[in-house]
Amino acid sequence: MPIVKTEYGKAGDKTVYCYTLDNGGGLSAEIINYGGIIKNLYFNDKNGVKTDVVLGRDTLDDYFKNDGYLGALIGRHANRIAGGKFTIDGREYNAGINENGNSLHGGNVGFDKKVWDAEESGTDAEPSLVLSLLSPDGEEGFPGNLKVRVTYTLTADNALKIEYSAVSDKDTVVNLTNHSYFNLAGYNSGTLKSQTLYINSSFYTPNDSACMPTGEVLSVEGTAFDFREAKELTPNLDAPDAQVQMFGGFDHNFVIDGEGYRLAARAECADNGIVMETRTNQPSMQLYTSNGLPEGEYKNGSHCGVHSAFCLETQCFPNAMKYRHYPNPLLRAGEEYKTVTEYKFSVK
Ligand code: BGC
Repeated sequence: MPIVKTEYGKAGDKTVYCYTLDNGGGLSAEIINYGGIIKNLYFNDKNGVKTDVVLGRDTLDDYFKNDGYLGALIGRHANRIAGGKFTIDGREYNAGINENGNSLHGGNVGFDKKVWDAEESGTDAEPSLVLSLLSPDGEEGFPGNLKVRVTYTLTADNALKIEYSAVSDKDTVVNLTNHSYFNLAGYNSGTLKSQTLYINSSFYTPNDSACMPTGEVLSVEGTAFDFREAKELTPNLDAPDAQVQMFGGFDHNFVIDGEGYRLAARAECADNGIVMETRTNQPSMQLYTSNGLPEGEYKNGSHCGVHSAFCLETQCFPNAMKYRHYPNPLLRAGEEYKTVTEYKFSVK
């Protein structure tokens, strides 16, 4: 059975289910239709040990106060909008403010806090879960009734593929991502020790102290932001670089080199041999090294917190409506937003 559906809890009068997808080839995932949250993602390491590579929580109640957006789908606009303000054709809009006077990850009630409609799909070797919702016109200040559809598929070649699509009846902005916290040594390993990261990026966008891009697009050459040769994460989280020091690690938007569907990053765990490659057709990716993740008890009694994991949030640039030289998250009425990201697993 590639998909097993079990009751997970209640959100108001809605029942939330947990869907277990298994491609029969080594990759399996537990996903709930509250927030589209990936609770568990299992892959066998080089010794055949089934390893859950994402941080998570135990109960639906824990996910109601999901500080850090663990595993969740993020929308309508992932990352930050300064002051929540943006304009479309001269008209100003105000997105919900929820972080230091700015809008983060869709505002106060983002897509991470919605119960999505869910439909099982795909084949035994490539099971899919199709999640959809309607975000009404004006929700969190965003214009247009937006129909959103996100399809999670475990492919036969061991990728978790996420296809995002959306259509609005008014011009709006859309920037969708997933906020999984990866630790290839396992969700309960505590640190990122022995994990290396390569990023296919020659440029990044530095931030002001509110983690808002300054508008500059800088070369990574000779800086702590140069991941074009894979390097170990842990020792670099305290690199003597003003940007890294300001955030206690990485919380930055990397511009992915090239165009179309391409490799964005490759992470590897030297200890257990698990390799994860991220591919996307998005222009950029936020590397967030869980600098602000609250210390505490997470799923199955695991202790997690600062630097316990890394997020690779494929996206359009943050606060991009402000800058002409940034790609634009504008979605015109009737047009289709369509992006794809995959996290592909193998061992070496
Ligand atoms: C942001 C961080 C934030 C984290 C959790 C990331 O996408 O860039 O600044 O702390 O999400 O909210």
